Amino acid sequence: MDDLRDKYLDLIGTAAGEAALEDLRVQALGKKGEISLQMRELGRMSPEERQVMGPKLNALKDEITEALALKKAALADAALNERLAAEWLDVTLPGRLRRMGSLHPVSQVWEECTAIFADMGFAVAEGPQIEEDWYNFDALNIPGHHPARAEMDTFYMHRAEGDNRPPHVLRTHTSPVQIRSLLAQGAPIRIVAPGRVYRADYDQTHTPMFHQIEGLAIDREISMANLKWVLEEFFSAYFGRSVKTRFRASHFPFTEPSAEVDIQCQWKDGTVTVGEGDDWLEVLGSGMVHPKVLTAGGIDPAQWQGFAFGMGIDRIAMLKYGIPDLRAFFESDLRWLRHYGFAALDMPTLHGGLSR
Ligand code: DAH
Repeated sequence: MDDLRDKYLDLIGTAAGEAALEDLRVQALGKKGEISLQMRELGRMSPEERQVMGPKLNALKDEITEALALKKAALADAALNERLAAEWLDVTLPGRLRRMGSLHPVSQVWEECTAIFADMGFAVAEGPQIEEDWYNFDALNIPGHHPARAEMDTFYMHRAEGDNRPPHVLRTHTSPVQIRSLLAQGAPIRIVAPGRVYRADYDQTHTPMFHQIEGLAIDREISMANLKWVLEEFFSAYFGRSVKTRFRASHFPFTEPSAEVDIQCQWKDGTVTVGEGDDWLEVLGSGMVHPKVLTAGGIDPAQWQGFAFGMGIDRIAMLKYGIPDLRAFFESDLRWLRHYGFAALDMPTLHGGLSR
């Protein structure tokens, strides 16, 4: 009996976990356990023998039961201590700073422009950046032999050999959105179309991808005077001060008459300020939409007329926020973005508002 006792107390003492302990309990005290079987033997003993063995076996059973319970508690303690050690956490440490991202000046100015034009009743339209050459050129009265096609340094997406359909191009301007919007919506229409455009060109003031915003207003009696008002209103709202404009006669295949628009500015120590001085800076092309363009857009030039304009978003972002080099816009340098970027929702109020 002492052997039995030593054996189980030893095994319990070195048991590795709860499962091992349970196995030992069954081995010793289960229905067919070693100690249970011995207790069953008591029935066959003489009364004298039983009187000696009975209490001894009961004491052994109690001792083993208690050892099992103690060991179980000790194992649970150890497991808890291990967790506490491993999951230790210093709640007094300072938090880790998470830097907020910022809005790229192009995104900011894109939003500012669409907000100002929305105030004047222009909806936002979109078109694909990979464009069919018909929309980018032909429909805008730029036929195949026209020098403008060559001048635009177009990126062509060549077809497979033997595929004779006309090539796709990376759109060289946002003007094709005029055609798409007219075909989709008809007239009257008043839209602006901001977006990316592409030309094979690279220096301090040109990048192969840049941004334009196109405007189009077609109705029965829209005139050049409406164009002038809309643009003057836009520049005053955008620059937050009154800005003189100058309309210079020009030529674009898709407008007749055409005008390039300059805004008043001052050059001083290599920086430019808009809205003062007597220098001029060209910022956009515009004009009355050519009848052939209206026809390509599916509307009757005898019934409808209107103006269009196209303006560089990056350009006017540089002017308003004093950013010197266009190339830095697209280099994804985080230091540059932190310096020139905007907090989300940091939309400047439309200073002075729009005159109504
Ligand atoms: N599409 C022209 C360009 O990218 C800009 C332009 C000029 C757009 C006159 C117009 C316009 O809508 O009427 O150079």
